[in-house]
Amino acid sequence: MKIDTSAQLIPYDGNRPQVAGGVYLAAGVVLVGSVYVAEGASIWFNAVLRADYEPIHIGKNTNIQDGTVVHIDHGFPTVVGDDVTVGHAAVIHGAVVGDGSLIGMNSTLLTGSRVGAGCLVAAGAVIREHAEFGDRALIAGVPAKQIGTVSDEMFERMAQNTSSYVSLGAEYLAMLGADGP
Ligand SMILES: CC(C)(COP(=O)(O)OP(=O)(O)OC[C@H]1O[C@@H](n2cnc3c(N)ncnc32)[C@H](O)[C@@H]1OP(=O)(O)O)[C@@H](O)C(=O)NCCC(=O)NCCS
Repeated sequence: MKIDTSAQLIPYDGNRPQVAGGVYLAAGVVLVGSVYVAEGASIWFNAVLRADYEPIHIGKNTNIQDGTVVHIDHGFPTVVGDDVTVGHAAVIHGAVVGDGSLIGMNSTLLTGSRVGAGCLVAAGAVIREHAEFGDRALIAGVPAKQIGTVSDEMFERMAQNTSSYVSLGAEYLAMLGADGP
């Protein structure tokens, strides 16, 4: 059986998504317009990154997990830093995420919000429009609030998780186009 391993890269208004070397794009991924994905990043099954009227930047070694939606808003590009993990089914909308942060599964970052470096956004959190959190904030709830700080131990676990996704992405990249079972 032949497996469809294609991602779709769709130009918008003359801007074509740019993907650096060593990036894994899983089947069902859709990138639209002014999206840039830096080296070592991985975008997992059915994630959609739509940069129609503002750009989206995905940093080095960052993973965007399955079913996540990344969009922008007028005047609000989305920037996800280096070494970030974005869990399954998150929504990042015109928001900025600092290096080394973890964005929990099914969390939502609304327009104009900013999360610092090394932060942990708990699963299911909803970060309000224009809310800002500094570095190493532990953020949770609806609406999201800072409930603590990210300890060195927590940060180390987050870094290990991100790095395991770099290896996983490389493994899947090596299998692209291979025949299935
Ligand atoms: C927030 C989080 C880090 C807490 O994990 P933990 O340190 O093991 O904490 P616990 O489960 O012992 O819970 C500690 C407290 O936080 C609360 N809490 C835990 N997860 C929460 C969440 N997602 N939202 C709101 N509160 C949460 C608990 O209710 C508990 O509150 P209490 O002290 O008032 O009883 C974790 O629950 C989480 O959301 N991790 C994100 C995982 C993820 O999405 N990864 C991406 C895919 S790889």
